[in-house]
Amino acid sequence: MTQTLIRARLLSFDRDPQTPDDTDSFRYIEDGGLLVEDGIIRAFDAYARINAPNAQIIDHRPHLLMPGFIDTHLHFPQMQVIASWAAELLDWLNDYTFPEETRYSDPELCARMAAVFLDMLAAHGTTTAVAYASVHAASVEALFTEALRRNMRLITGKVMMDRNAPDGLLDTAQSGYDDSKALIARWHGRGRLGYAITPRFAITSSPAQMEAAQALAQEHPDCHIQTHLSENHAEIALSCELYPDAADYTDIYARYGLLRGNALLGHAIHLSEREIGALAEAGAKPVFCPTSNLYLGSGLFDDAKLRKAGLVNAIATDIGGGTSYSMLQTLAEGYKVLQLQGQRLHPYRAFHWITRGNAVALGLEGRIGTLDVGTEADFVVLNAHATPAMALRMARARSLVDELFTLQVMGDDRAVVQTYVAGLARKKG
Ligand code: GUN
Ligand code: ZN
Repeated sequence: MTQTLIRARLLSFDRDPQTPDDTDSFRYIEDGGLLVEDGIIRAFDAYARINAPNAQIIDHRPHLLMPGFIDTHLHFPQMQVIASWAAELLDWLNDYTFPEETRYSDPELCARMAAVFLDMLAAHGTTTAVAYASVHAASVEALFTEALRRNMRLITGKVMMDRNAPDGLLDTAQSGYDDSKALIARWHGRGRLGYAITPRFAITSSPAQMEAAQALAQEHPDCHIQTHLSENHAEIALSCELYPDAADYTDIYARYGLLRGNALLGHAIHLSEREIGALAEAGAKPVFCPTSNLYLGSGLFDDAKLRKAGLVNAIATDIGGGTSYSMLQTLAEGYKVLQLQGQRLHPYRAFHWITRGNAVALGLEGRIGTLDVGTEADFVVLNAHATPAMALRMARARSLVDELFTLQVMGDDRAVVQTYVAGLARKKG
């Protein structure tokens, strides 16, 4: 098979950086070479040390190459609700998001939008996504079909929702189970695809549907589970009203066996000590969605507190409550959310988080999130001089930290020179 040798400055993290001085947590190679064959990284070394005489050479110098970004929570059918005017989460869902998602009953629309969605992710440097589809099986079919065609790593699932939403957006406990089951059989583990069992949240799933989700979770321990937890006060109050026997919001999911190591809990903002303890015990993964939490006014995610309790937090865009597809912009807003709480998001930790850190949260660190030999060849090439304002800032940069922080604070899709998925360039010019 053809080999490709990519020359660039290379950066890859080996573990979570502990302090701003923790330069042992990553490998940075000034004149690096990445050898790729069959979608797999075969060598990661100094360029001069790689012996591949027949390889096709792509020279990305002076740009910075790192593992592709991983977005652990976003919604495929919400691309066209970004920037909808709403007071808070429940209004936003009822007034814009639910009506928009009813359109995804149309397989043709789904197929067209799946290509747009994956192009959009590639344009922003995202190579792996964990996405909510709509309630319609057709939306999952379309997304998996398109991801398979591109050999992209993608986790998605049919949203299960059988109440408190418009008619065109409801399944039943039984049909939610049956459709999910059929989709798992058809898609889970095929190519680089994985299925996520996806009860939307407690408000839109009846107890009968939660039982169906529980059955799916028990029958498919290797499927991810994704749902929303403790995003805003009105949502929490309504959830607890609908499940009066539960001790709190987290306990609703616990009672239906939905908390475990591969469960991703979007938002997880307003948690009690008891809830944090329960999540830590289960090893479930809270997902920080900064642009969405600021945009909808939901609240401030307490990263330090959750980490101190032993939790591994993921980070994500949450399109379309989130306002940018860019994981760089997500870091920029995440930095500000943490600043407001006296916490700091150092660029080493930030870039670890959107690459290897999110891979760890997904249990996929042996496959994606680093440039390690034998892992999948998903990576992004970045230019910290991409805009006049960035170039001006970079003229005063003195270190890798300065460059990374410029990308973290000022970067977006303009800073993405190229995105490689399974070794192939995917960003459109
Ligand atoms: N809670 C339930 N559904 C959603 C959704 O689509 N977006 C957000 N941000 N929160 C939710
Ligand atoms: Zn969400």
